[in-house]
Amino acid sequence: MSRIRITETILRDAHQSLLATRMRTRDMLPVVERLDLVGYYSLEVWGGATFDSCIRFLNEDPWERLRQLKRHVTHTPLQMLLRGQNLVGYRHYADDVVERFIGKSVENGVDIFRIFDALNDIRNMELAIKVVKREGAHAQGAICYTVSPVHTVERFAEIAKHLDQLGCDSICIKDMAGLISPHVARDLIRAIKKVTSVPVDLHCHCTSGVAAMSYFAACGNGVSVLDTALSPLSGGSSQPPTESIVAALQDTPYDTGLNIELLLEIKRYFEGLREKYGSLLDPIAERTDASVFMHQIPGGMLSNLVSQLKQQGALDKYDEVLRELPRVRAEMGYPPLVTPTSQIVGTQAVFNVLTGERYKVVSREVKDYFKGLYGRPPAPLDDTVKRIVIGDEEPVSARPADLIPPQLAILRAEATELNIMRSDEDLLTYALYPDVGVKFLRGEVKEEALVPVSSENKPAVVELPAAPRVFEVDVDGELYHVKIMPTGEIEMGAREAAAPKRPSGRIKGGVVSPMQGVVLKLKVHVGQWVHKGDVLAILEAMKMQNSIVAQEAGVITDIFVSEGETVVANDVLMVIGQDELKATAS
Ligand code: CO
Repeated sequence: MSRIRITETILRDAHQSLLATRMRTRDMLPVVERLDLVGYYSLEVWGGATFDSCIRFLNEDPWERLRQLKRHVTHTPLQMLLRGQNLVGYRHYADDVVERFIGKSVENGVDIFRIFDALNDIRNMELAIKVVKREGAHAQGAICYTVSPVHTVERFAEIAKHLDQLGCDSICIKDMAGLISPHVARDLIRAIKKVTSVPVDLHCHCTSGVAAMSYFAACGNGVSVLDTALSPLSGGSSQPPTESIVAALQDTPYDTGLNIELLLEIKRYFEGLREKYGSLLDPIAERTDASVFMHQIPGGMLSNLVSQLKQQGALDKYDEVLRELPRVRAEMGYPPLVTPTSQIVGTQAVFNVLTGERYKVVSREVKDYFKGLYGRPPAPLDDTVKRIVIGDEEPVSARPADLIPPQLAILRAEATELNIMRSDEDLLTYALYPDVGVKFLRGEVKEEALVPVSSENKPAVVELPAAPRVFEVDVDGELYHVKIMPTGEIEMGAREAAAPKRPSGRIKGGVVSPMQGVVLKLKVHVGQWVHKGDVLAILEAMKMQNSIVAQEAGVITDIFVSEGETVVANDVLMVIGQDELKATAS
């Protein structure tokens, strides 16, 4: 009757949520044939952040991962997470790129596409759904669940109806922040079932602690599929544990029919992996955090936020950022927080706190968002903030991708010119990630080292005392005073050794970096005149591009950085001379 099926997320969402998406293909392969025997509804293995992580950190071809998994998984459908018109990137791509990407994904092994748009703007999902259907694969339309004054059960049901009309084979309630409460899950699924006839999948994260209860509430109210992760990588910002959900539903009308003993055997393999990847486990991502009911930050974003703040040396601002976030979100029309809006809203909140002045630094992505290039926000934008961000410009009302001309032919020419393309898959890797994609395809990306857990607590830099130090040493009850002399040689940490010659802090006319990041582009040269408001450089911080703007007019007298260089907060990037200005003016 209402038997429940299970989608296993351990090879995608679970390690994306808990292990920064770093699980290697070679660690998946030994266990996938066993996973294939379980009888899951599907195995989620691809998409989301895995594509980016493969080429950026693991020196792995994501397409090859998919092919290898497909070779070993012959019974269970493979599932991927697709960000609508954003595919597996962070911005909209042209329609021809979307079509080719989906075609190649099907060809390489994806059976089920979970398609979502961060703003629940159906216009950003339409084409992907159409192409998935045309390719003969399963199109699952996902609704990003969130809580706000404008997000009601009726409104979500309306979206589900629309997705059904577009031909979706199933509907997923994607509760990326773990916010859905049991009674809302029940009401929402009932409402969706009233207006559609397709199966409904509930996808929750455990962040707030209510996910398993909401799963149970969904049973018997029309849910067909629940998403879980095997226990070693479950809980916290990941999914509820597979074995526990299976056991809890056993001998009820909702029995999953899965073999618990087999699951427990497979779990042991992942316990080993959990050890292996232990240094990546972030305690904040792992814990139950009920404050998510206020800040609504989804699984992966919490650990991202922590690492961003750590990078900026501002972890003490964590709570302040969590308070700023809902404010920014309201001003941006209550977008659900999921990639890419979670990064866009989250990073703006970080900027607002770090710079001490709200919207003083605004990323290109936030500007594009206010211009409507990501789609239609669920609620109107805050007028005052909109004026600060885009001035008098009117946001666009067209489907965002209609503004993007076809890209494939140009990209193909570029990739040929760069001599990096051996296949259409390579072309797509380049199309989605023009910077890191080129490095990867050239073989310039090195696999990131996996830090063994035992060394986690050892400091990276051993600081020798500069002066003699006296220690008390207890030897069998006898107390000795031991004096330790420095040898004069001080080992420097990588960071210190590479310390730049550029000045830091306040110098006259100095243009300082507002945060840690990479200088992507220098827009000026020494001797150049600049006006107040001119863009001097583009700084990439936290995956966002930020314009560094001249606060005053003058002449560039010094530039201390070059493109590609990493800078920290308060590093002086360049100097704008005022004296020259006066000299010439008079
Ligand atoms: Co998820």
